[in-house]
Amino acid sequence: MNRGGEFEKHFGVPPTVVAASPGRVNLIGEHIDYLDGWVLPVAIDRHLVIEASATGNGEFEFVPIGAGFGETVRIASNGIHPREAKAERWLNYLLGVIAGYRDAGAEVPGFRAVIHADLPAGAGLSASAALETATALVVEAISGIKGNVRDRAILCQQAEHRYAGVPCGIMDQFAVGAGKAGHALLLDCRELSTKPVPLPEDLVILVADTGVKHALGDGEYRRRREQCEAALALLGAESFRDLDLPFVEANRGRLGQTLHRRARHAVSEMNRVHDFVEALASCDLETLGRLLREGHESLRDDFEVSCAELDCLVEAADAFGPARGHVGSRMTGGGFGGSTVSLVRLESADALLLHLKSAFVARFGRKPDVFVTSAVDGASLFAVESLVNP
Ligand code: GLA
Repeated sequence: MNRGGEFEKHFGVPPTVVAASPGRVNLIGEHIDYLDGWVLPVAIDRHLVIEASATGNGEFEFVPIGAGFGETVRIASNGIHPREAKAERWLNYLLGVIAGYRDAGAEVPGFRAVIHADLPAGAGLSASAALETATALVVEAISGIKGNVRDRAILCQQAEHRYAGVPCGIMDQFAVGAGKAGHALLLDCRELSTKPVPLPEDLVILVADTGVKHALGDGEYRRRREQCEAALALLGAESFRDLDLPFVEANRGRLGQTLHRRARHAVSEMNRVHDFVEALASCDLETLGRLLREGHESLRDDFEVSCAELDCLVEAADAFGPARGHVGSRMTGGGFGGSTVSLVRLESADALLLHLKSAFVARFGRKPDVFVTSAVDGASLFAVESLVNP
């Protein structure tokens, strides 16, 4: 990752603060973070970097360089409010975070920031959570605030709710903030507690981006959330974590077809997370593969958030097969486009990568972006000069 240098190229002086946030893939536990469930994301070695310095005059200036967001923008100190225009919507992730600190009573001085990334935006890899989290670290450094991972994740999630209009769960902001190298992060989304889960050293994570830009704000994500809440109300339950599958089946009639499927996904996916963590501990590759496949089928059929491009990549990976080193694959993140995640034996990763590319090209006539990645530490400030302790 290119961690610096862009600010100096643009402004002719070095920045005083540099923050980098990784993206994430989720291994399992999809669409259950907002249902008080458990999830198992991994922070990946693709990052979004913000290099910044205070302006001294209250103004903000944001310069995105090749990060896939938009144009340079200058904003007055009193100009922190949500943006509606399509070309400006990316600003909501920054502005929502600044507003969050201000609403909590902090005096956030204006700053100029150069933003760059090797993490693709709109690929289901949490570029928005990375932008929020890196912004939060910059704001804290420039304002002299001592934050922590948990409060920062909550503030960033709120920014997404209030400014970007996406009623997301807490997984992404936690994953990019609390990731641990070589580990997945078991996050209990009700307790907000985490447990690092070591990943087997002979397996690698392969990400395949369909290039279909998901738009979580388009209403389907919100609709799924509302359907789950409606199902819970009909079941007279507070949380899916208190329910089991026989209970959901017994209430099929009361739920009706759609809500029954949504509930079945929620409960079965929660079970899969625990089974997956157990299978990781015993390196039971067959079980890991089965859980990934069942997870994908549940998202495709019961939760209806997959798409033809994601299904194609998962089917191609399954056809590659365990004998050639494929462990399992599924869509990852919110869905409706975005990426798949595969676990594959180290020595087979290159062959699977080529196989996925050619299967996708044969079907859709264009190349997906497929890359091997690894589990890294969460977001950090890694070069802060005198501003923090003036
Ligand atoms: C998006 C949201 C997360 C989570 C996933 C689905 O990434 O931001 O909170 O709900 O979708 O698991």
